[in-house]
Amino acid sequence: MLLVALLLVTVVKSEEAQENCVNSKSVSLSLSHQTNGSGHSILNGQLEQPAEAAWQLEVALRDACGATARSQVLTFGLTGPSVRVPPGYALREGFGFFRAATHALSWTAARDACARDGAALAFAQSQEEAHMLATQFKFEVPGSNYTTCAWYGASDLAEEGKFVTVTGLNLNETGYANYYPGQPAGKTVENCIFINQNAGLLHDGLCSAPLAYICKLPL
Ligand SMILES: *[C@@H]1O[C@H](CO)[C@@H](O)[C@H](O)[C@H]1NC(C)=O
Ligand SMILES: *[C@@H]1O[C@H](CO)[C@@H](O)[C@H](O)[C@H]1NC(C)=O
Ligand SMILES: *[C@@H]1O[C@H](CO)[C@@H](O)[C@H](O)[C@H]1NC(C)=O
Repeated sequence: MLLVALLLVTVVKSEEAQENCVNSKSVSLSLSHQTNGSGHSILNGQLEQPAEAAWQLEVALRDACGATARSQVLTFGLTGPSVRVPPGYALREGFGFFRAATHALSWTAARDACARDGAALAFAQSQEEAHMLATQFKFEVPGSNYTTCAWYGASDLAEEGKFVTVTGLNLNETGYANYYPGQPAGKTVENCIFINQNAGLLHDGLCSAPLAYICKLPL
């Protein structure tokens, strides 16, 4: 998640300085926002003005009037609180916040259950994340047809043979698309992807089968 805000700020030089110092100048303030591996919000900013301007920022630069520096740059960092997560979600550092199923659902019901939390049916974006998904959650939940498998956030329901994630990415472009040998094999019958606890490999399966699932809130 990356948010870049660009603001124009008018800086007025100190009134208490000599009259001839008073003028107005535009400087640009750019802010970038991202979340780190544990979901803390990190805001970084840079304030910059053209070389000829002499300016004063109330908080930090009291002596800018008459300065001869070619440019003045103020940089700052701000760390906010960790993102708020719905009940039941726990951090897996570097990956996101996850919730494991308490009972089995069909693929579509699992997708919708995650969406109701503001999350998404999980899919991996690296080998490490696939390993984490396959090993750190309990797939044996009440009602599950296959106790070593969990629904995965990808299907070819929209277009046969084209597996895309619940967030609209081509499965081949997520950073992880390791199928069990011979998979996907279900053609028009099996359109939903599940992950097998054994080696974290992917299969296509019957979407109506009740399976465990994992919801993910990205960092
Ligand atoms: C994220 O930032 C917070 C606040 O500075 C820090 O406590 C935490 O360790 C950082 N997490 C990572 C994974 O760097
Ligand atoms: C993914 O890549 C494989 C190998 O390049 C290819 O055979 C398959 O058609 C691709 N699938 C999609 C959905 O693009
Ligand atoms: C779930 O497993 C049972 C028993 O093997 C089977 O009869 C049923 O068809 C399966 N349901 C689905 C949706 O796959």
